[in-house]
Amino acid sequence: MMVNNVTRETLPVILEVSGLSKTFGGVKATDNVSFSVRDGAITALIGPNGAGKTTLFNLITNIFPADSGGVSFLGKSIRGTSPMNVAGLGLIRTFQSARVFPGLTVLENVLAGRHRLFKCSGLSQMLWTSKSRAEERESRERAVAMLELVGLSKFRDAHAVDLPMGAQKLLEVVRALMSQPKLLCLDEPAAGLNDTETEELAVLLRAIRVAGISVLVVEHNMSLVMNVADHVVVVDAGAVIAAGPPAEVQSNAKVIEAYLGREENAAA
Ligand SMILES: Nc1ncnc2c1ncn2[C@@H]1O[C@H](COP(=O)(O)OP(=O)(O)O)[C@@H](O)[C@H]1O
Ligand SMILES: [Mg+2]
Repeated sequence: MMVNNVTRETLPVILEVSGLSKTFGGVKATDNVSFSVRDGAITALIGPNGAGKTTLFNLITNIFPADSGGVSFLGKSIRGTSPMNVAGLGLIRTFQSARVFPGLTVLENVLAGRHRLFKCSGLSQMLWTSKSRAEERESRERAVAMLELVGLSKFRDAHAVDLPMGAQKLLEVVRALMSQPKLLCLDEPAAGLNDTETEELAVLLRAIRVAGISVLVVEHNMSLVMNVADHVVVVDAGAVIAAGPPAEVQSNAKVIEAYLGREENAAA
């Protein structure tokens, strides 16, 4: 079930972006961007190619520093927090181009995502205590169930790099989920997916919401956005030009202009 706008206002803010700006060699990639992501909802970040969507992800996760502005996650500023520590707080992102671990099978790739959570110390894992054995078994069961959910079970023992690109992208989302994020940020997860894979992604996104995990998704596939998002933030030339429920944003004149005015750029 979608979270409607009235309900959305009652959900706590999990991520607050305030006045972020970033210039690259004279180009304002991010221009005073503010928006909030509500806990338990799917927020979509859309906009033409080069609008600054990936840059926003890089600023939020501190891949590089913002020139000005702030980001708070779960009520605390994360400005200046290293990407690794941001992940440690439960803010997990994926990258626009799929990054699977080349030497590992599909199942091993998924299991590699669980590390934020491992409660057992290195020593107890080395000694292979019953506690870490139980965690290992629980991880495997969760990994297998998630691969099943996205239709990747049949590939579980294949090398991840041998998978079609669409399957690799789904695998990346599943791997990110293994760390049980509080907020999952996905950069164009549907790029390169065929219709069946896109439908599997939509099923997965809804399952993620049901599990109570918040999602911020950069997406070009407009029907996917309209199908799964509770709230849509639109950026163009680095700045937010509209934000609201999908239906409202879709009929916004500025949004239509941004997409249709530069049709050659808009993949959606
Ligand atoms: N690391 C970087 N160095 C220089 N310019 C960059 C860098 N990252 C992004 N840009 C520029 O910032 C603008 C926004 O890019 P990007 O955030 O990748 O857009 P989107 O993800 O919306 O397609 C583009 O003009 C791009 O060339
Ligand atoms: Mg991008």
